[in-house]
Amino acid sequence: MKSRRHSRHEPWRIGVLFSQTNTTSEVERTQLCGTLLALDEINAAGGVNGREIVPVIYEPGSSSASYVYLAKRLILEEGVTSIFGCYTSASRKAILPMLERFNGLLWYPTPYEGFEESPNMIYTGAAPNQTITQLCSYLLHTYGTRFFLIGSDYVYPRRTNLFMKEYLQSHGGEVVGERYLDIQAPRLAYLPILRAAKEVGVDVIFSTVVGDGTSHLYQTYADLGLDPTRTPIASLTTTEAEIHAMGCEVAAAHITSACYFESLGNEANAAFVSRFKKRFGDHVTPNVCAETAYFQIFLFAQALAQADSMDTDELRPHVLGSCCEAPQGRVSISASGHADLLPRIGRANHAGGFDIMVDSDAPVAADPFFICGPVTG
Ligand code: ACM
Repeated sequence: MKSRRHSRHEPWRIGVLFSQTNTTSEVERTQLCGTLLALDEINAAGGVNGREIVPVIYEPGSSSASYVYLAKRLILEEGVTSIFGCYTSASRKAILPMLERFNGLLWYPTPYEGFEESPNMIYTGAAPNQTITQLCSYLLHTYGTRFFLIGSDYVYPRRTNLFMKEYLQSHGGEVVGERYLDIQAPRLAYLPILRAAKEVGVDVIFSTVVGDGTSHLYQTYADLGLDPTRTPIASLTTTEAEIHAMGCEVAAAHITSACYFESLGNEANAAFVSRFKKRFGDHVTPNVCAETAYFQIFLFAQALAQADSMDTDELRPHVLGSCCEAPQGRVSISASGHADLLPRIGRANHAGGFDIMVDSDAPVAADPFFICGPVTG
């Protein structure tokens, strides 16, 4: 869809779709915060080519069907072309056909499972090769070889675990169990699965559980008296936001692989954290999803300044190959619309943050179709 031509004084309008209620709202609210902070900063500095950027914010309530309905409204009724949003890969995949049909552009700030590429997407979250390879090598060396996989039942966990199994099989690891639960499963549903993991004897529980289920998993783990210093839960999506929901003590000593942690010691991050907390309050801590939502708005604004157009075909060429200084470090967008990012590994501490166990000295390019090796047996 061609965007309407605007007068020199009309604001640029963008769509924003992050859930503020239900299953995945804990982290999506922080993605909305990251988006709003970046917009405030850009608009306070004069906007883009003298025009303010105004968000049209809808609330999808953690429902893929609502994402589809609201994305359609944004494109067809609000005349928006760029949409910033989506947390689950289920919601991203649900709106993709509509984006492709009407030539909209989704800016997607969430770690995901790879195996997708579209001219209507900019993927600013990590692909598996940017998080899992480093994580697996660290876990195999630190804790041992026996992995139990537990995930929410949808595309991100199932596809990510295929990657995990390939990697473990070609690096001396072993999968001793693999279980999936409905994304809305109650806390009680986690008990038999963790009991089975305990009985079979594991070194690592690799979790691709998302949303409210994250608290259920970690709390049930604590109830069973498992020891996270010997058998941690490792995740790509348990951020400071999920830890805030479950409590610091429940999370302590568990492992997360991500490209950003609030505790990163660089100056740009200290300034970002301070502005974030000033804007949203001390109780709201930035995390990898919020930081990604923040820097992708700057990448968008840079491209918009060059294109001077919201039309996807005019804007996207200025996005590909662009870069910016993000709180995590320098990030850039490849020709496939994925981000080069700086992977780290954090261990949750008793204060609700992460101690950085493995830091990054250079960006890693996303390789969304990366395959570690054949899975046999
Ligand atoms: C996810 O569904 N990409 C977390």
